[in-house]
Amino acid sequence: MTPEIPVTPETSDTTEVRVPASGLVVLVGVSGSGKSSFAREHFRPTEIVSSDACRAMVSDDENDQSATPDAFELLNHIVGTRLRRGLLTVVDATNVQSRARAELVSLARRHHALVDAIVLEVPETVAGARNAGRADRDVGMTVVRRQQRDLSRSMKRLRKEGFRRVHVLDAGGAPPRVHIVRERPWNDRREVHGPFDVIGDVHGCLGELRTLLEDLGWTLDLDDAGRAVGATHPQGRLAVFVGDLVDRGPDSPGVVRLVMGMVEQGSALCVSGNHEAKLVRALRGNAVTVSHGLAQSLEQFGREPEQFRADALAFMDGLVAHYVLDDGRLVVAHAGLKEEYHGRTSARVRAFALYGDTSGETDEYGLPVRYPWAQDYRGKAMVVYGHTPVPSAQWLNNTICLDTGAVFGGALTALRYPERQIVSVPAQQQWYEPIRPLGAPSTERQPSVLRLDDVGGNRWLDSTRAGRVKVEEENAAAALEVMSRFAVDPRWLVYLPPTMSPARASSREGYLEHPQEAFDEYAAWGVTSVVCEEKHMGSRAIAVLTRDATVAARRFGIDDGSSGCIHTRTGRPFFADTAPLVESLRDAVAPLFASLDTDWVALDCELLPWSAKALDLITDQYASVGAAARHALPAALAGLDAASGRGLDVEDLRRRTDARHANALAFRGAYAAYVRPTDGLDGVTLAPFQVLAVQGHLLAETHPHPWHLTQFAGLTSDLITPTRHRVVDLTSQREREDAVRWWEELTAAGGEGMVVKPAHLVTGRVQPGLKVRGREYLRIIYGPDYTESLPLLRDRNLTHKRRLALREHGLGLDALAGFVAGEPLWQVHQRVFAVLALESEPVDPRL
Ligand code: UTP
Ligand code: MG
Repeated sequence: MTPEIPVTPETSDTTEVRVPASGLVVLVGVSGSGKSSFAREHFRPTEIVSSDACRAMVSDDENDQSATPDAFELLNHIVGTRLRRGLLTVVDATNVQSRARAELVSLARRHHALVDAIVLEVPETVAGARNAGRADRDVGMTVVRRQQRDLSRSMKRLRKEGFRRVHVLDAGGAPPRVHIVRERPWNDRREVHGPFDVIGDVHGCLGELRTLLEDLGWTLDLDDAGRAVGATHPQGRLAVFVGDLVDRGPDSPGVVRLVMGMVEQGSALCVSGNHEAKLVRALRGNAVTVSHGLAQSLEQFGREPEQFRADALAFMDGLVAHYVLDDGRLVVAHAGLKEEYHGRTSARVRAFALYGDTSGETDEYGLPVRYPWAQDYRGKAMVVYGHTPVPSAQWLNNTICLDTGAVFGGALTALRYPERQIVSVPAQQQWYEPIRPLGAPSTERQPSVLRLDDVGGNRWLDSTRAGRVKVEEENAAAALEVMSRFAVDPRWLVYLPPTMSPARASSREGYLEHPQEAFDEYAAWGVTSVVCEEKHMGSRAIAVLTRDATVAARRFGIDDGSSGCIHTRTGRPFFADTAPLVESLRDAVAPLFASLDTDWVALDCELLPWSAKALDLITDQYASVGAAARHALPAALAGLDAASGRGLDVEDLRRRTDARHANALAFRGAYAAYVRPTDGLDGVTLAPFQVLAVQGHLLAETHPHPWHLTQFAGLTSDLITPTRHRVVDLTSQREREDAVRWWEELTAAGGEGMVVKPAHLVTGRVQPGLKVRGREYLRIIYGPDYTESLPLLRDRNLTHKRRLALREHGLGLDALAGFVAGEPLWQVHQRVFAVLALESEPVDPRL
């Protein structure tokens, strides 16, 4: 529990002391000046970091001066950690020496936090007298006098040391009567909840702005000359401008007049763009290079009356660099903002918000190359920004760029928040010739896939449908190996299927698994209707198919001309070239695109026959890995030798690489023995049994299994193998017995068995499916004589397998749900990755 913030009542003789709500407060004063008493009175115990407490923590004695260096190391660590986490921190130490203060100021700067000093001034004699009466101190007069000398010397320069404010309090008599006000930074407007219309870079395009506002339902206020001087929204929406109101376009003063009016009315907020910052300098008469459309603005503002120019200048000069809105859920900054800068205040944060994270390099058009911060963005807050023109506003990791190049002949774009709806109006004309053509590839918004630190280490994943899932480090490492070396292009990997447990052991004479057990289990879980599907003797296959390659590019970010992907239950391709199979399957299921009104489908299938996978895995997967390793590793070794020649210590890495090379050769020897010619895709078929998801819908969750099976019934292609099935009303003994007979016929004819699933998806502890394998098929699994040891086998423990099945099922659905909802791909992949990681948990492979 967080202790209450102590509040000193405000009376006529209290002094108000305003400190940064999430910054650093450095107390300054000689021993006995009352720092600890002051801190106790005005701040929470957890907010106070005291050098005495740190000294005691590292030495058991708060007066042990030999422990001072260690104590301050600890103090700095705690202060840094708290500032990183955005917590108000009060340093209780004498801080009379400039070196000690400099350390704290630089710590605050490193975390983009504001820092204030509170100086407690007391006469030497008073401090001395107080200390004399303290049992916890043996500070003599000499020490106090020395501290007093240091402090006096400091007082003159204190303000120049980087403190935002220096509060000097007279603490000589009674404790100073102050009222502490925790001041939030200007950019912290978390109490404003919108709804918002966030508007992209306007650049003087007044006509487009007026049209856009009207399209969004705003009513413009016009002055006598017909100029827009404000606007209100009947639903009380708030406009937020991402900056760059000015330059290049036909009427920058007109845009400023309107936006300034809206901000004054309280119907808009506006952050500064880099163009405002530069125009402010130019209007003030500072020397700036007149480029990038500044000339137009200077000429247009030059024609305005003096008073308007002064007002506009004050308005633009006062613009904040970014806003944190809606309880921290929305951040607006002109050039975007990385998470650690949200709500922070420093020159660096402001520069990032205005100009982006420039590296100093320029591209082939002479424009600055910017660090792709959005690609790495992992924050919970939505970041809305502009600055770099893009052909259309696209989501990337919960960020969106609204600069769609209105002034370059593109469009002026707004985002309605929280609706996440995009509204655009086309430019009336090209007002300014772009240096880089609109739509030329920019480095900033590459589709983002999983990053190593999204998945590495022990990690807890909060999953809507599977609860809190722990992914162990070793399992994560195994999954990473699969993902990085064997998986299909990860952008296709939006789902992996769960494992499936067998029904509990049957006590029926001669049987280990039997349908009645599955029926009884589901009935006990409250399920009344199940579907029995034949279990194909093949390999699980997930097919993600798009109407055509343009959909693949738009929705999946795949632009290699492919229009789909078929992968195994661990995300691997079945064949070296899956394209022909993808094409045929897409043609085969083409009617679904129309009937389900979608551009893409994700299907759960079985690929038949089983041998198709095994043989091709050897020839294509293993062979390519072997070949790659045998080419890459000698090159790596050569590189390491070169590095070693330059005196770098790479011995250990070289030894490991050498061993991997030897393994690669052995690996090749092993699989080469199995390589036989195959006849490609001839004879391969697919048995789809569920439409996992389509555009906008997670059908796996919303539609019952029988519905799914009927979707495939009408498909006539030779590529499609139907899945025989029957729906069983569990309350009907007759239907149950019919189903048992059906299972007996299937298995007698060589079938593997069947899968029993609840007709409607049920969550909680209900298994998503139970397999019931045939008596003879189980001989392959448990050995020819397994029927002799049934009593022993019936004891097999299903708990772990079932826990895995439930978690993997939930995570898989979460992944797909995220993809359907347009969540950042890395979030989808975190869940897919977790399924893969859980798959490497040790579990009896015969289950
Ligand atoms: P503090 O323990 O608050 O002083 O007060 P300090 O500045 O933190 O001292 P150091 O640097 O840790 O040594 C010292 C004594 O003075 C009394 C306190 O009750 C305590 O015994 N005191 C403090 C007053 O009598 N009046 C005051 O206004 C403040
Ligand atoms: Mg103290």
